Amino acid sequence: MNIPFRKDAKFCSFFSYSKTFLAIFIALLLSVPTLVSAQDSTAAAAGAAAPAGGGDAAKGETLFKNNCAQCHAVTDERVVGPGLKGASGRHDFAWLSKWVRNSQAVIASGDPYAVKIYNEYSKAQMTSFPNLSDDDIKGIFAYVDQAATAAPAAAAPAGGATAAAGGDAKGGAPSDLFVIVLVALVVVMVLVLGVLLVIVSLLSKAVKGETAEASESDFMTRFGNTLKKISVDPAIRSATLWIFVLLVLKATLDGAYSVGVQQGYAPKQPISFSHKLHAGEYKIDCNYCHTGVNRGKSAHIPSANICMNCHGVIKKESPEIQKIYTSIENNQPIEWVRVHNLPDLAYFNHAQHVNVGGVECQNCHGEVEKMEVIQQRSSLTMGWCIDCHRKTEVNTKDNQYYDKLVQLHASESNEALKVADIGGLECSKCHY
Ligand code: HEC
Ligand code: HEC
Ligand code: HEC
Ligand code: HEC
Ligand code: HEC
Ligand code: HEC
Repeated sequence: MNIPFRKDAKFCSFFSYSKTFLAIFIALLLSVPTLVSAQDSTAAAAGAAAPAGGGDAAKGETLFKNNCAQCHAVTDERVVGPGLKGASGRHDFAWLSKWVRNSQAVIASGDPYAVKIYNEYSKAQMTSFPNLSDDDIKGIFAYVDQAATAAPAAAAPAGGATAAAGGDAKGGAPSDLFVIVLVALVVVMVLVLGVLLVIVSLLSKAVKGETAEASESDFMTRFGNTLKKISVDPAIRSATLWIFVLLVLKATLDGAYSVGVQQGYAPKQPISFSHKLHAGEYKIDCNYCHTGVNRGKSAHIPSANICMNCHGVIKKESPEIQKIYTSIENNQPIEWVRVHNLPDLAYFNHAQHVNVGGVECQNCHGEVEKMEVIQQRSSLTMGWCIDCHRKTEVNTKDNQYYDKLVQLHASESNEALKVADIGGLECSKCHY
């Protein structure tokens, strides 16, 4: 064995360890901006190449994905309708805008091209989009042109993006949280580095035998000897240090994620069901689908049969609607991804809040009627529940149950009866 090396290993190791940790530290510091920008890059990619052909391609992308993507590809590929690559070259804008708003009218007007593709696509009717403005339509084709040119090159990144989206659905940690976690990590790493430097320097001192205190007691000598043995063996030393670092890392990550809760969580759903369309534009009442809100604890997610009340007739040909049919035929429920989820230790009841309390859905869930994809807007932490119970007055109107309580409360206090006053802060009300 290389004893000569060991001789001055005390001093060397001190430096080599600090170097290792310095390297880790710097690597971490460097990775912060990269990781953060990696998170943003998906959003940036959508926005980056906005100005193409006079339309807002970023806005166009959203419109395209929400309205056209189920029937059209941006390439030459045929889906339900023809691939849209080059469509803006084939037609002038006037034709395109007329077509998108009402393709049947263009066909009926006898436009030869329209009649030709209509027949070519076995008279499949394209949906009309009368609400799209000229700018919207320009945006859509700006996006199509851009995506069509980018398509071959973008093939690989596109795969990456879906993987990222998949990861998102699972973890659901918003990018803010990610930054916090990373910053926390760096701070912890600095602390660990400091502690380790102290330990290492103490250990090297101990090896040098500079510790006069070692003779203080039997225990201390034995302890010192063991330390010496351990500290002399670099393999054991580095292994311990690494285990320590990894444990701290893991603990920090775990901690940070449970603190971060799931605010902002908006997983991709198996069917691109839009609340904006159903609850917003078509003003379907929340209770129509979430039948439990007035009656019980759970709001309920509607079964496929409720969808069929309308989709037995409406838009049967859409591939997204076909998924509802498949689910019913196979007798398998649609596997919606759950968004809001309290831990089992907490009890929450919808009817208590919606029916008795008169609290609007939007107070807790945000403007659902504007969401294309459902998103958790509130933190759902204990602090959030309690905060509202402190601030909110009880809805005592037309509720005889509260008459006596209100009288009693009024005789003791000038303030209105709050949820906190009727036991809304008692542990047992929310915890089994
Ligand atoms: C329900 C399926 C469906 C949807 C949704 C749909 N289309 Fe179409 N589209 C078709 C079909 C089918 C055709 C072929 C003509 C026909 O059969 O009417 C077509 C034809 C076209 C054409 C002519 C293509 C060419 O090669 O000249 C354009 C342009 C077009 N659609 C644009 C759009 C845009 C933009 C949207 C979204 C705002 C959209 N479509 C949404 C089904 C659809
Ligand atoms: C046409 C039926 C329908 C209507 C109307 C409707 N929803 Fe939904 N809602 C669904 C479906 C289906 C899901 C599950 C899929 C999803 O998350 O998008 C859902 C999911 C939700 C969720 C998330 C559930 C979870 O997993 O945590 C909330 C919150 C919600 N809806 C609130 C509302 C509110 C508030 C309204 C009224 C403004 C409303 N919904 C109207 C069908 C409907
Ligand atoms: C009260 C009627 C009603 C109910 C119930 C309903 N929808 Fe719809 N849905 C509509 C209408 C109206 C449209 C818009 C159709 C159009 O664009 O022409 C629509 C559109 C859709 C679309 C977009 C289809 C496309 O290709 O553009 C999807 C997806 C959809 N609904 C899914 C569902 C699901 C899933 C359920 C059950 C949870 C459901 N709907 C329940 C009325 C309803
Ligand atoms: C006081 C706050 C609050 C109000 C008001 C409220 N919700 Fe919720 N909602 C929650 C919480 C908290 C959860 C999570 C419950 C759980 O995980 O047990 C939830 C979950 C849901 C879910 C998922 C399924 C379930 O029941 O767990 C749906 C759907 C839903 N809410 C719809 C609605 C609708 C529709 C309304 C209005 C009629 C509404 N909520 C009003 C707080 C609220
Ligand atoms: C937007 C305000 C708001 C939020 C957020 C809220 N609550 Fe409430 N809560 C109320 C109101 C208002 C009442 C009173 C209802 C009534 O009149 O009985 C209430 C009553 C209750 C009660 C019954 C209390 C009693 O003494 O009868 C329980 C239990 C409860 N809430 C649990 C929760 C839990 C758990 C959460 C968080 C997941 C939560 N609440 C979040 C407004 C809120
Ligand atoms: C208004 C409802 C409400 C009341 C009152 C309430 N809690 Fe909670 N508590 C919750 C909810 C909701 C959670 C879950 C929140 C989360 O996951 O962050 C929770 C979580 C907890 C947790 C677990 C924390 C964790 O990190 O997982 C403990 C412990 C707890 N509560 C203790 C108490 C005690 C003790 C009281 C009485 C002084 C109390 N709670 C009163 C709603 C309530």
